[in-house]
Amino acid sequence: MCGITGYIGNRPGVRTVIDMLRRLEYRGYDSAGVAVATHGGKNIEIVKAAGKLSVLEGELSDYWDKQGAAIGHTRWATHGGPTTPNAHPHYSSDGRIALIHNGIIENFQQLRAELQGEGYVFTSETDTETLVHLIEREYKRGEVMEQAIRDALARVTGAYSIVLVSAHEPDVLYAAKTASPLIVGLGENENFLASDIPAVLPYTRQVVVLEDGDFVRVTQASVTLTTLAGERAHRELFTVTWDEQTAEKGGFPHFMLKEIYEQPRAIADTLRGRITPEETVVLPELDGFTREQLAAFTRVQIVACGTAYHAGMVAKRFWEHLLRRPVEVSVASEFRYGDPLVGTDTLCLVVSQSGETADTLAALREARRHGAAIVSVVNVVGSSIARESDAVVYTQAGPEISVASTKAYVTQIVALNLLALHFAFVEGRQSADELTAYVRDLTALPDAVESVLGGALLVEELAERLASRTVFFYLGRGYDYAVSLEAALKLKEISYLHAEAYAAGEMKHGPLALVEPGVVVVCFSTEPRLFDKMLSNIKEVAARGGTVLAVVPENETRADASADEVLRIPVVRPEFSPVVSVVPLQLLAYLIARARGCEIDQPRNLAKSVTVE
Ligand code: M6R
Repeated sequence: MCGITGYIGNRPGVRTVIDMLRRLEYRGYDSAGVAVATHGGKNIEIVKAAGKLSVLEGELSDYWDKQGAAIGHTRWATHGGPTTPNAHPHYSSDGRIALIHNGIIENFQQLRAELQGEGYVFTSETDTETLVHLIEREYKRGEVMEQAIRDALARVTGAYSIVLVSAHEPDVLYAAKTASPLIVGLGENENFLASDIPAVLPYTRQVVVLEDGDFVRVTQASVTLTTLAGERAHRELFTVTWDEQTAEKGGFPHFMLKEIYEQPRAIADTLRGRITPEETVVLPELDGFTREQLAAFTRVQIVACGTAYHAGMVAKRFWEHLLRRPVEVSVASEFRYGDPLVGTDTLCLVVSQSGETADTLAALREARRHGAAIVSVVNVVGSSIARESDAVVYTQAGPEISVASTKAYVTQIVALNLLALHFAFVEGRQSADELTAYVRDLTALPDAVESVLGGALLVEELAERLASRTVFFYLGRGYDYAVSLEAALKLKEISYLHAEAYAAGEMKHGPLALVEPGVVVVCFSTEPRLFDKMLSNIKEVAARGGTVLAVVPENETRADASADEVLRIPVVRPEFSPVVSVVPLQLLAYLIARARGCEIDQPRNLAKSVTVE
């Protein structure tokens, strides 16, 4: 997730915005830059660099002690790789406006073509540069700066928070926000802008959290808040009492919990720009493949590790159901040393949050060696797996810091589902109505996850009752089996408890012998078609004294009599239920681990990115 900072006041501008960016480093980034008004505001100078802030700082000695309004940015690449030209800020073509941006401008390709047609020259691959040229164009048409920004933003669809400094009004910073976070920090004769509270804490604790649709004009002495439409707006002043560490986590005690709560936004961002108003799927990432090439893939091979492998297990079912092709899912470390049945007729889907997992990268290369085409689903732009793929569909989860993966998992499933739907639209095997119904149901997922999070109190009470238990089984059938694997992994990696997932039908072939009083058995039963079968499994466990925790759709009551605990989730299409049903179990794992005093964000023996075999 990009970091945004802005400063206007008597301190040295560049030094201050860099210090503020340092306090946002935990969010992750791959390039950085600053813009500052110099020579009494006649010029706007931009300095930027790929890599860490230290690289940028090495180039800032001429600016370090100078005053002048300044903006700063750390970029987490989305459109275009992590290069210096793609780093923010971006200039208008006359070099008099500099803009930083967090979010995604969905219609940037169309706007870019329009501006190029008028002679605007682009120096980066970013969506952001489109907006700064658009603002310049409106300004040159005779608007004052504030109106030029408003007019340009009216042309933009998507999500953004932006901050702008210009030589036209060097004593003003302008900022606006739709979906991405932005705050104003109020100081004594100085003001601050930032994407997150920790950036301003050494300077002020008086903060206004902007809401979607806010537009703000900030000078050294004033902050004027309006809506994008130009009406006056009022937001409460908030006095921050958190320490800096708590502030980094947005007030949450751990990154894992913060990331669990970010899931509705992460899913929405992964869908953003990929669904048309007609409810079809658009994935320009696959433009390199012709319709004939897509049809010629008779087999699909998914490779991944850990949580990403579990997302692949979910995707296998959906792909096979929708596209009627055999889909093999392999743990990357097994695939790479196997004798894989892949060839030029195979589409290899490589799934990885980090894009750097050594086994997954090696599996990619092995599939490539056999002639397979490689499409990856990756969270980190420009990572090794992304670079070595024929096409990449990025998840837009933002940086995931907790070792236990949560928002990456749900967005991987969403991205894999989008890919399957893209193929289905191309092939036309199903009717358009059937496919648009899937698309509509996908877009309902952020709200469904939000509603699960709204019921977190019930999970907290449940965690209190289960925190002293030491053996957990997770059962499910079909999609529910796939999500059982992930839910068990969550508990074991952060709480160090024994947690095992089984296909529910397998219980009586052995594992049932382990069920006795005290053992907790989580039974996912979200698929109506398989509910009766799961009910039998629930009864088998209950009869042996196990504690049954049933996870069922909210309209289902048939398990209530046999289960000891019931978690209800919103009704969603069964194919998409893993995105929703995993969430209370992520929370439960987190709460149990917390009750046991475990090191949640960095569990023992584990690393976030496994770059060794
Ligand atoms: O970065 P990747 O998605 O390739 O990582 C794969 C696994 O190492 C990762 O999912 C791991 O299993 C997580 N700790 C699970 O929470």
